[in-house]
Amino acid sequence: MTTDKIRRIAVNTGGGDAPGLNAVLRAIVLSSIRRGWEVVGIQKGYAGLLDTSKIETLDHGRVRGITHLGGTILGTANKGDPFEMPMKLPDGTETTIDRSDELVENFHRLGLDAIIAIGGDGSMRIAHRLAEKGIPIVGVPKTIDNDLAGTVVTFGFDTAVMVATEAVGRLHSTAEAHERVFTVEVMGRYAGWIALHSAIAGGADVALIPEIPFDIDVVCRKIMSREARGRRFSLVVVAEGARPIGGEMVTRGPKELGREIRLGGCAEQVAGQITDRTGKETRTVVLGHLQRGGTPTARDRVLALRFGAAAVRVLAEGQSDVMVALDPPLVKTVPLTEATSRMKTVPLDSDTVYTARELGICLGDDWEGANY
Ligand code: F6P
Repeated sequence: MTTDKIRRIAVNTGGGDAPGLNAVLRAIVLSSIRRGWEVVGIQKGYAGLLDTSKIETLDHGRVRGITHLGGTILGTANKGDPFEMPMKLPDGTETTIDRSDELVENFHRLGLDAIIAIGGDGSMRIAHRLAEKGIPIVGVPKTIDNDLAGTVVTFGFDTAVMVATEAVGRLHSTAEAHERVFTVEVMGRYAGWIALHSAIAGGADVALIPEIPFDIDVVCRKIMSREARGRRFSLVVVAEGARPIGGEMVTRGPKELGREIRLGGCAEQVAGQITDRTGKETRTVVLGHLQRGGTPTARDRVLALRFGAAAVRVLAEGQSDVMVALDPPLVKTVPLTEATSRMKTVPLDSDTVYTARELGICLGDDWEGANY
């Protein structure tokens, strides 16, 4: 595939939204128009390529003034895997069917030459399977969780960390005034990036991350050692995927067909255990979707705009079945299979983990250097 063969491309945003999606769309549209290409937006993830009334032309006007806007002008979907589309059976139960051939047919019928798919690991997996079916496709990594392999960071992460850091910072004064403990639950699914970074930046006392199963007695020891030093309050950041040694992650509701299980509730459980063991009044704040909403930070905007422009560049070079990725100072490409081969969790031997420990932040384990 060469540049002169591309005339019309489609773009979609899939999975949970992340601040910066609109900035990517703007960069894609402006870079494409500059090359004389037409861009169409597929609404609600891949679903818009199955119901083609959900396709719209994206021109200058449609992407004007959207760099700073959260959400996505295309809408998104968590349940839109064309290879496993949920379908209701006459008896009311749900099953899934493979509608990918229909999607490929529509792609050709609409005169499309390529797709840029913006999404997380699920969207990248689908993108690879579509590439195998002959669709030229480039992925753009997105997730506040920062758990996609192949890229040093994803856009949305910086904004989520900023929101969580501000919350931890704000809770300090009220925690100190009332001599309380606060547990603050942050998102991140099975990775502790948001929890660890916001705990360090916000000056928390404890950070519980999925990568390090915690011992509640170690957490309480830290809180009581602060108490003994006259620091009668503590801030405990809890990743939604944190779990005790030998225990399970806390989930909400049953798993829905075609969707990831929902995590949540760990911070509330930890709060109860802290009160039981220390007698300290402990309150919980769950930040939830506040971390995903609203305007992206400048860092996320720049990264999103770079990814969008790079995706168009690599399509023009004839690349497909790849994801654009940050490898500072460069934006490069990695094969989609590599990006989806594993989840990027916090390495325990990373400088960030060492930094937290050196700062005296308890990570819930019996680290030998700890002096709580
Ligand atoms: O993957 C992004 C994320 O916000 C996770 O951190 C969180 O577990 C999940 O999505 C929440 O998904 P939903 O918005 O579908 O409840």
